[in-house]
Amino acid sequence: MAKKVGILTAGGDCPGLNAVIRGAVKNAEHNDIEVYGFLEGYKGLYENRFVRLDSKAVSGIISQGGTILKSNNGTNNFAMPEINEKGEKVYVDRSEEIAKRLRDEGFDCIIVVGGDGSLKSARDYMLRGLNVVGVPKTIDNDVPYTDVTFGFNTAVAVATEGIDRLHTTAESHGRIMILEVMGRYAGWIALSSAIAGGADTVLIPEIPYDLNKVMEKIEERRREGKNYSIIVVAEGAKPKEGTISIREVEQDKANNSGLDSVKLGGAGAFVSKEIERLSGQEARSTTLGYLQRGGTTCPYDRILSTEYGAFAMQLVADGKYGRMVTMLNGKLQSISLDEVAGHDTKIGTKSSNIKLVDLDSDLVKTARRVGICLGD
Ligand code: F6P
Repeated sequence: MAKKVGILTAGGDCPGLNAVIRGAVKNAEHNDIEVYGFLEGYKGLYENRFVRLDSKAVSGIISQGGTILKSNNGTNNFAMPEINEKGEKVYVDRSEEIAKRLRDEGFDCIIVVGGDGSLKSARDYMLRGLNVVGVPKTIDNDVPYTDVTFGFNTAVAVATEGIDRLHTTAESHGRIMILEVMGRYAGWIALSSAIAGGADTVLIPEIPYDLNKVMEKIEERRREGKNYSIIVVAEGAKPKEGTISIREVEQDKANNSGLDSVKLGGAGAFVSKEIERLSGQEARSTTLGYLQRGGTTCPYDRILSTEYGAFAMQLVADGKYGRMVTMLNGKLQSISLDEVAGHDTKIGTKSSNIKLVDLDSDLVKTARRVGICLGD
């Protein structure tokens, strides 16, 4: 009998999601597997909203940004907000009944394409007896046990173009230009784009910065006759004697231990203000924001996403459940989902097992070797 498989995209969207879906569906057809796409991530899984996915449905989507299945980062099936008979808001675990319904409807497996929190939920579903396969997704590149996540290289390309564009206007006006990039608590996008764009300074969450060091770099450039500087600031960067910049804490999500309620933002504006004060020179801050996530996918990510999607479906075809697709040491393989998310054994809570930039890595060494200041 043909296998029946669900696929969903959860969390913030990311370039390459459509290529993953396409890769999975194409390989399913070779293995006589029926695929259904759940809409809006775990929300659609709860509400039982899905569409049939065949080659026609995925035709022409490889280059498209976003996700044809839509996404959602505000649903935790293990703690769904509901109003009880007393009119109070309560959080109810609906995962058992969802898993049962999916099994009753004949789903052999659900492929979850998501970041650390969504993969943790996939692992928790596994503990509920539902077969799952995970695909690591995020522009932040912070999922452990994989060399790279898809979407990251596209984000780096966008950030690098941002640095290139800031260079010309910085030079024309003799200004200090700050570019704030995404990445949450990891500095992968900032560090990679700073190297690719030839930035002068990069501030990453892994290295709490000292503004005096940033000022020394600005002075050094002035002495060389360059009265402008480019500083890339990761949204999660923080000063040695200070705290991370938070744009907002979403109260609804804060009440739910499975969701990320903290919205980062403002690190670039903070650095800009401080540098202007210390240097007496004009500084301007630009936040690249969602431009890093939207739009067309770069070729590297299209290939990686196709590999991930097709391989995820291969694992399903081979009955290898409870695995996450990875690219480890340049080789496409899979790892137990429990190993990725298992450190946090409490069901329904958010994972925080993120992959940070290794300070002894060649990437960091390269940045230092070419004279990029890291604020330390
Ligand atoms: O995790 C991906 C990411 O784009 C982060 O880099 C950023 O901090 C966050 O998502 C923004 O999330 P949201 O879509 O909830 O604003």
